Amino acid sequence: MENINLADKIEERLPPRALIAISRAQGLLEKRGGKLFLAGGAVRDLLLDKPVWDVDLVLEGDAMSLATDLADGEDVKITLHKPFLTANLRWHDLNLDLTTARREKYARPGALPTVAPGSLEDDLSRRDFSINAMAVSLNGEDNGRLIDHYGGIDDLHSKIVRILHEKSFKDDATRMWRAVRYEQRLDFKLEARTETSLKRDLGMLGTITGERIWYELERVFGEELPEKVLMRAGQLGLLEYLAPGLRADARMEGWFEAARRMSQPGNPGAQLYTALLTFNLDNRAMDNIVQRLKLNRATTQTLHGTQELKSRREALSVEPLKPSSIYRVLDGFSEVAVRANLIAGDSEKTCRNLRLYLDKLRYVKTSLNGDELIAFGVKQGPSIKTVLGLLLDARLDSEVSSREDEIRLLRQISLSS
Ligand code: CTP
Repeated sequence: MENINLADKIEERLPPRALIAISRAQGLLEKRGGKLFLAGGAVRDLLLDKPVWDVDLVLEGDAMSLATDLADGEDVKITLHKPFLTANLRWHDLNLDLTTARREKYARPGALPTVAPGSLEDDLSRRDFSINAMAVSLNGEDNGRLIDHYGGIDDLHSKIVRILHEKSFKDDATRMWRAVRYEQRLDFKLEARTETSLKRDLGMLGTITGERIWYELERVFGEELPEKVLMRAGQLGLLEYLAPGLRADARMEGWFEAARRMSQPGNPGAQLYTALLTFNLDNRAMDNIVQRLKLNRATTQTLHGTQELKSRREALSVEPLKPSSIYRVLDGFSEVAVRANLIAGDSEKTCRNLRLYLDKLRYVKTSLNGDELIAFGVKQGPSIKTVLGLLLDARLDSEVSSREDEIRLLRQISLSS
């Protein structure tokens, strides 16, 4: 293996706070002993000249106590995951993981591994892909030396995602989602045997808890172009294991692009992307996916809301339709459910009305409030809600446009009741 030294690249490209943390860690280790390495995605991204945001350090030694000492006197949030020998240090501008080099054993496929301290070699050998299984020494004369036991650098050059051993996807089927994510993010290709293993082991996805699959999907939605990952996942058969009948096609691709345009300068977020991905599912398939992924209440409500609104959309395609009628159909649905129906809708009239609601109607408020209605003599109880509703309708339909108008209307209502 050629000798590659990344010391200069590290100095140039790692966030300044990471360089300070590494230098402090090196100082502490001089006294107590232990070898420190940069590992995983940061090494991959340094070699690809991509920005490095998250930094993973591996220590042959006790990471918990080193992390605790590093955090001392710093404005940083430290979290220790003792069973996994991992510490997380979060500054406002840096996320750093410090892990004891470890050996892993999978008690059964899909289970979280049991871990024990080990060497850097052990630690690299338990990783997902060759491009993620490289490290850089941060020790003394060795500082900056690239450690690459699995041909990671060659695979980076050949643009290949390759598992380290035959059983990799069996051990941890979430790696299938990770493989596709890296392949599509980096414009790489799954290595032929890796692809064969993935297809052969698809059934192992059944061994993974819903929470872990959802975590991977959220990471897919965090990608710049999640639709690329989902299309490829569909081609490889991964989507079918998420929910039978789930498809990623050219139409969904267009919806995702539209969602991004609509969300600028932000990101559409996992809920809107999921609502669009599942838009064409029927209720039963939707229930299955909600259960399979153990989705939280907010996401579940949004997905059900999206479906419910889809079934009521017809009501928005008739014309003429008063603004108050549009409001009554849509009031109570989450913004994401309305957006999903706007993006995936095919009737121009319906879309116009959905947009009117999103841009304008949902912000319309009455000037008078419940207390004021009571002061004007409206009886306490349900009539307050009814009268407020009438005032709001009048506002929405531009029949009143000021507080005085509302008071006038209120008098008319009182006289006629
Ligand atoms: N890893 C693994 N198997 C997994 C998850 C993680 O081997 N199922 C290893 C990989 O070496 C990976 C490292 O742990 O590089 C850190 O994991 P993660 O933060 O998920 O990966 P990054 O490569 O940093 O991912 P990203 O660039 O998407 O943030």
